[in-house]
Amino acid sequence: MTDTAALFTDAVDHYVQHRLAYPTDLIDGLIARFGIGPGTKVIDVGCGPGLLAVPFARTGAEVLAIDPNEPMLEAGRTAARMAALRIEFQVRKAEDLDAADGLARLVAFGRSFHWTDRARVLSLLEEVVEPDGGVVVIHEDRDQKADTPTGQVIEAMKRDWIPDDLHRRSRAGHQDILAASPFCKVERLTGSVPRVWTADQVLGQMLSTSYFNPGRLGDRRAAFEADLRARLARLAPDGVFEEALGFLALVATRPAG
Ligand SMILES: C[S@@+](CC[C@H](N)C(=O)[O-])C[C@H]1O[C@@H](n2cnc3c(N)ncnc32)[C@H](O)[C@@H]1O
Repeated sequence: MTDTAALFTDAVDHYVQHRLAYPTDLIDGLIARFGIGPGTKVIDVGCGPGLLAVPFARTGAEVLAIDPNEPMLEAGRTAARMAALRIEFQVRKAEDLDAADGLARLVAFGRSFHWTDRARVLSLLEEVVEPDGGVVVIHEDRDQKADTPTGQVIEAMKRDWIPDDLHRRSRAGHQDILAASPFCKVERLTGSVPRVWTADQVLGQMLSTSYFNPGRLGDRRAAFEADLRARLARLAPDGVFEEALGFLALVATRPAG
């Protein structure tokens, strides 16, 4: 398996600036569903800059946030400090979780499950998740995203610029993998965030990804930016895109009884 720990190192600044936070309703729904608050523990796996860890910590829950990428963790520590929240950050991979980390009410993967050895991690979580707790896998709804005008441009850029990308990981099959795990009862929750964004922001978001971060583009960056801006200008000459970004949360629990 490719070592994924370094993939986001060159993306961190763009990530912090351009990745949208998750819809509040979706996070609040998870908090209510699992009774997250004081006396409960949440583990944010592949936490990056803490987009899940921070709202969970605001409830008063104990939050452990892990990520193998130190610069991403540093961005998370900064976010926690700015929000005056106590969050435990550790440089670790999902595959290193074990019983000593338990017991968590919820283990959350925000845009990170596809980077892990999914089936193996879910079986490790047997010992980490409380009997009535669960696992949530949350990310943009890729089908809906690919349907937006900017989504179509982004998908076309991926096809044209990285046709054989070794790092590309599939989010397909998450639901099947969860259904074959100890957490086989899977519900789908959806939410969306309205977004008015400019060509600069589309570019910034793309530079925050493992595909197109500045380190990977290297000396192709200027040509990449020119190509993207030309395609976006054809789409909206005023350079402004009004769209809704859809999110999907797969909430997985053990079967009843
Ligand atoms: C796209 S970012 C997601 C950040 C954040 N959770 C969010 O919701 O936006 C994916 C993160 O997964 C981390 N990651 C990669 N491989 C991992 C693994 N095996 N275990 C845990 N995290 C991993 C990366 O370092 C990166 O910070």
